[in-house]
Amino acid sequence: MRIDVITAVPQIITPVLQTSILKKAQERGVIEIVVHNLHDYGLGKYRQIDDVPFGGGAGMVIRCEPVFACIEQLRAERQYDEIIYMTPDGERLTQGIAQELSLKRNLIILAGHYKGIDQRIRDALVTREISIGDYVLSGGELPALVLIDAIVRLLPGALGDAESALTDSFQAGLLDPPIYTRPAEFRGMKVPEVLLSGDHRAIEAWRLEQAIKKTAERRPDLLEETEPKQWQQD
Ligand code: ADE
Repeated sequence: MRIDVITAVPQIITPVLQTSILKKAQERGVIEIVVHNLHDYGLGKYRQIDDVPFGGGAGMVIRCEPVFACIEQLRAERQYDEIIYMTPDGERLTQGIAQELSLKRNLIILAGHYKGIDQRIRDALVTREISIGDYVLSGGELPALVLIDAIVRLLPGALGDAESALTDSFQAGLLDPPIYTRPAEFRGMKVPEVLLSGDHRAIEAWRLEQAIKKTAERRPDLLEETEPKQWQQD
């Protein structure tokens, strides 16, 4: 899989891509991520990428020319399954969307900045608009990283332990049960006995029960969406 990220602020994106799981996934050849600096496609001597909004108003708007130039260049090289624009007015990111996108071959993610991007970019180029939640950030760079991380960790070979993405919260429509490590007792607080029992069936049953309990308490909306048979464990 390949992801091209277009941003006016690559300094936010690049260091995160060079860290931890995202770095390892690229080294292992699981994913290729290429960051493009919108200023490289800017206009004139000052590489202008934005301008004041027609009709007035605060803030600057990203112009069409640099974004069209960058995306047209990429599209001349390969076909893209989606051109995604990160925006608070997009569809809300879910595990299901991350899963769907993890099955694609080539994605472009456009991170807006300033006040927004010219509507004609959205009309003519963007195929999908995604929000990471109902709050407004200063730009689309952090949302783009959130989306990339959610996708990449689902790719086969991205995580050391092949199991761990499958058992993530949300993956089966349930939140994760509580988890513990050594010591078995810390300042009088004990790890639940069953986890020390070595009885794997009992441990799985306890984890499922705890996951359902936590989900019912915190996110009852998830339980309504989930088929109970999905939770069954053998
Ligand atoms: N850009 C600014 N805020 C955002 C959000 N919540 N989701 C996606 N992109 C954004």
